[in-house]
Amino acid sequence: MDRIERVSNKWQAAHAGEHYRGPRFGSRRARERDPGLIAALLARCDGVETVLDSPCGAGRLTQALAPRCRTLISADVSAAMLAAFEDSPAPRRVQASLAALPFRDRAFDAVVCCRFLHHLHEPESLERAAAELARVARRYVIASFWDSASLPALRVRMGLKRSEGPTGRVATSRARVAESFSRVGLRAVEFRATLRFVSQQTFALFERVEQRP
Ligand SMILES: C[S@@+](CC[C@H](N)C(=O)[O-])C[C@H]1O[C@@H](n2cnc3c(N)ncnc32)[C@H](O)[C@@H]1O
Repeated sequence: MDRIERVSNKWQAAHAGEHYRGPRFGSRRARERDPGLIAALLARCDGVETVLDSPCGAGRLTQALAPRCRTLISADVSAAMLAAFEDSPAPRRVQASLAALPFRDRAFDAVVCCRFLHHLHEPESLERAAAELARVARRYVIASFWDSASLPALRVRMGLKRSEGPTGRVATSRARVAESFSRVGLRAVEFRATLRFVSQQTFALFERVEQRP
């Protein structure tokens, strides 16, 4: 298995980046939620000097990540999203797919993957994404997913909330996500959501399990 399924094309559209920087997270609360959770998890990590943000979208996390490391590299498959970055702060931007990141093994102390995994429907894609994130991470990965043990996911299962359909976003259990990363040598250290069982978007901090000689 060597591929990640192709997810929505909507981020390739000309104004996708501007939408993601602006109306998509319109309120201050919405804008600050993900950066705040990621900053809290990064604060638990030791010795983080180099960070990869992938996929970085239009650079929504840059202001939270840049002050917390010496070098930040931002990678995304969409040229439209990368083009919407604000000039300042300006991290190095790379157009690349998470299926095959153009970085050497363990190139970054920490790798951040925000709002991507819930777009993957095929189980092999989650495994592949976890493997690629783990490959380029020296020690930590912070990744978000939709928690199936949350009120919105429960409402979809009970038919009280409309499902997004076969190509929509999908919820996954914490155990399943932990298992996928554990197969590639990363242990789940902590899960964080704004409100457990209420917020669907959940962040996990994974740390490399070193093999003893
Ligand atoms: C929901 S956005 C999240 C962006 C950013 N992490 C954030 O939270 O603002 C999903 C991003 O995944 C990117 N993407 C989709 N498929 C990808 C792939 N195979 N490799 C890398 N990026 C991909 C899209 O271009 C888009 O920018």
